[in-house]
Amino acid sequence: MVGDEIFLRDGALLDSAMKSMFEFSYDIDDRLKQLELERPVSPLSRILNAYLAVLSSEYSPSRSALEEVHSIRETFTSISIPERAHLDVIEAWGSGEFNRAQRLLDALLIQFPKDILALFVGHQLDFFLGDAQSLRDRVGSAVTEFDRSDPMYGYLLGMFAFGLEECGWYERALEVGHEALDRAATDVWALHAVVHSHEMRAEFYDGLDLLKNYESGWTGSNFFKPHNYWHKCLYLLEIGDIEGILGIYDSMINPPGAGIVALTLLDASAILWRLFLDSVDVGDRFEKLCSAWEECLDEPFYVFNDCHAIMAFVGAGRFDLADKQVDILRNSIATSDLRRSNAVMTSAIGLPVAEAIVAFGRGDHRQVIEKLYPIRKEFYRFGGSHAQRDVFHRTLVESAICLPDLSLAANLVDQRIALKEGSPYNWFAKRRILMKLGDPNQALLAGSMGDSFVR
Ligand SMILES: [Fe+2]
Repeated sequence: MVGDEIFLRDGALLDSAMKSMFEFSYDIDDRLKQLELERPVSPLSRILNAYLAVLSSEYSPSRSALEEVHSIRETFTSISIPERAHLDVIEAWGSGEFNRAQRLLDALLIQFPKDILALFVGHQLDFFLGDAQSLRDRVGSAVTEFDRSDPMYGYLLGMFAFGLEECGWYERALEVGHEALDRAATDVWALHAVVHSHEMRAEFYDGLDLLKNYESGWTGSNFFKPHNYWHKCLYLLEIGDIEGILGIYDSMINPPGAGIVALTLLDASAILWRLFLDSVDVGDRFEKLCSAWEECLDEPFYVFNDCHAIMAFVGAGRFDLADKQVDILRNSIATSDLRRSNAVMTSAIGLPVAEAIVAFGRGDHRQVIEKLYPIRKEFYRFGGSHAQRDVFHRTLVESAICLPDLSLAANLVDQRIALKEGSPYNWFAKRRILMKLGDPNQALLAGSMGDSFVR
């Protein structure tokens, strides 16, 4: 078993490929080609490549990964035990059985606790499933198991920090995330964990300072850059820098000629929808984004993406496309095999969220509340992070503020303030509610509180 276990770590070349994966580096293709050249009898580089396909969260690449698994099994006469286990994981994942893939990875890591590839892809899958506890504990075991001098140890800390953050352990997440960044300033996932911690603690200026201080580490040649820029936009949104957000959007998140990548389009939708909720004029950006989503959408595979596509359709006023996509989601539940995680995620959370987004666009705020309020504590079930899912909470709040009876709005906003007192958005929402309730003095106080957090 020991021989099998080290299959992933028996050469510097593999570590360098894994480093590229951890850093979401553009050079991953070159690393995999090198790996294939050096180890032609091993399917490892092709396994890594197939994982990259399922990590896209898109249907077509995931289907290609299934073909690749089949081809690997046909081509290679000698496949090790962990390699076989990885092929099973990719097969489950590519078939849309995310939960089964997650269980297979759990089992793989019990047998091979230092399988660095299983740790990386497992962490990403936990994220797609919104499974905060696994985000923390899958890596938690490895942090204990690995030697601190191991070249991969820092990347484990980066993942662990993100898991801690998603479980609400912000102080510890900051400590662990910074330790990872001290080891590699280019660890964009560790930086992201620290960024999230500042977001959740409403430390927007600390977050902006962090991004500035580590600029050379995260703004280089990596696929994760747009997402970290998206986080910068969240900070700027709280401090009211709309021009700054639109500048970043146009240059870094959805620049002209950008490739069609669902996970980046998702970030684009997520920031534009927040601006839409705040009644900011975003020009023709929704229309352009809408076209990109039309090109990107395929068979339903990961409903978190579909919901963000629907935001773009509604933002662009393309209710024809939004309604069509909602119908596709409805049909996908009716016709899908329930082993497919996406069908369950769609039925429980994705479909009501999608319907609520369309209802919001049509100004049907009662319908938004009817769809979102009962599931508001379970949004995590369709994936993403707390920061990402806050867009659905904000949609609910904005609809509640539009109702003649403001008691629900007041209740929700007070909850938000209790949790995140330093968020100007929360105080300004309270100001709007108090103004509508005819209490300008209290509204002024709430506005002053919001202003006090903006320098
Ligand atoms: Fe994030």
